[in-house]
Amino acid sequence: MKIIEKILEMQSIILNLKKKSKKIGFVPTMGALHEGHLSLIREARKENDIVVVSIFVNPIQFGPNEDLNKYPRTFESDKKNLEREKVDFLFFPTPMEMYPEGFETYVNLKKLPYHLCGLSRPGHFEGVATVVAKLFNIVMPDNAYFGQKDYQQAKIIERMVLDLNFKINIKIMPIVREKDGLAMSSRNSYLTTEERKKALCLYQALQKAKEMIEKGEIKIDVIKKEMEKTIKEIAPDANIDYIAIVHPDTLSELSVVEKRVVVALAVFIGSTRLIDNFIIERS
Ligand code: PAF
Repeated sequence: MKIIEKILEMQSIILNLKKKSKKIGFVPTMGALHEGHLSLIREARKENDIVVVSIFVNPIQFGPNEDLNKYPRTFESDKKNLEREKVDFLFFPTPMEMYPEGFETYVNLKKLPYHLCGLSRPGHFEGVATVVAKLFNIVMPDNAYFGQKDYQQAKIIERMVLDLNFKINIKIMPIVREKDGLAMSSRNSYLTTEERKKALCLYQALQKAKEMIEKGEIKIDVIKKEMEKTIKEIAPDANIDYIAIVHPDTLSELSVVEKRVVVALAVFIGSTRLIDNFIIERS
C-alpha cells in the first residue's frame, strides 16, 4: 500500500489509473478503524480495480466543545488493517494540505442538515460536505462507500453528489454491530466498562421500536415514550439528545409510522455521544 500525503500526487496517480480505465473505489474515514470501516473496504475491494482509503480527522466538522483533540488516532494499527485488506492507496493529508491559509469555500445544504444530529451539532454537516467534496475532487472515485450508522451524513452526501453533478455512485452499507448489538463506532473506545454496558440502551430502544411497529403501533409519540423508558431502564443517567422517527429521504419527523421509516437516536453515555438507527419497513 502506498501512502500519499499530497493532493497533487494523489490526483496525478488517479488520472494515470483512469487513463488505463481502472475503476476506483473510495472509503473516506477519520481513522481509528473498526469492523464497520473494514466492511466498507471489503465491499470496495470486491467492486473496484483500485481501492483508496483516506484517513483525515477533519477539524471543520467538529464543534468548539467537541472531541477533535481527543478523537482516537491509531495510525499504526490502521495501516496494518489497510494492508491486510489489500488497499492500494492511503490518502493521509495534513490539515494544512486540506485547508491552507486563505481557504474559504464551504458546501452547504439547505434542508437536510436541519434535522437529527444537525440540530445539536450546528456546522457539522457543512464540515462533512465540504471535506467529502474536496476528497471526491482529489480521489475522483467511481464508487464511494459510507456506513448507514451515519444515516444523515450518507443522505447528505447522496444529495450533494446529485446537486453538484459528481459522477460517483454512493453505496450505503449496513451497520456492523458488536455481538450484543452495540453499533461499532470509533467513539466506543471512550466508554468505561460500566458505560459500555449502558451503551446497549440505544440498540435496545431501537429493538423496542421495531417490535412495536411490527405489532401494528403507528403513533410515533407512543413509540418514542417507550424507547425513552427502555433507555432509562438500562442507563438511568443517560442524557438523550434526540429520539426521532423520520422520513427516509427528507429526514422530516413524522407523527405516524409510514411504510418505510428511519428510527434514529443520539444519547450521551457519560460524556460520549453515541448514535444509532434502524430502517424499518411496515408490512
Ligand atoms: O464518517 C466519517 O468518518 C467522516 O464524517 C467522513 C465521511 C470521513 C468525513 O470526514
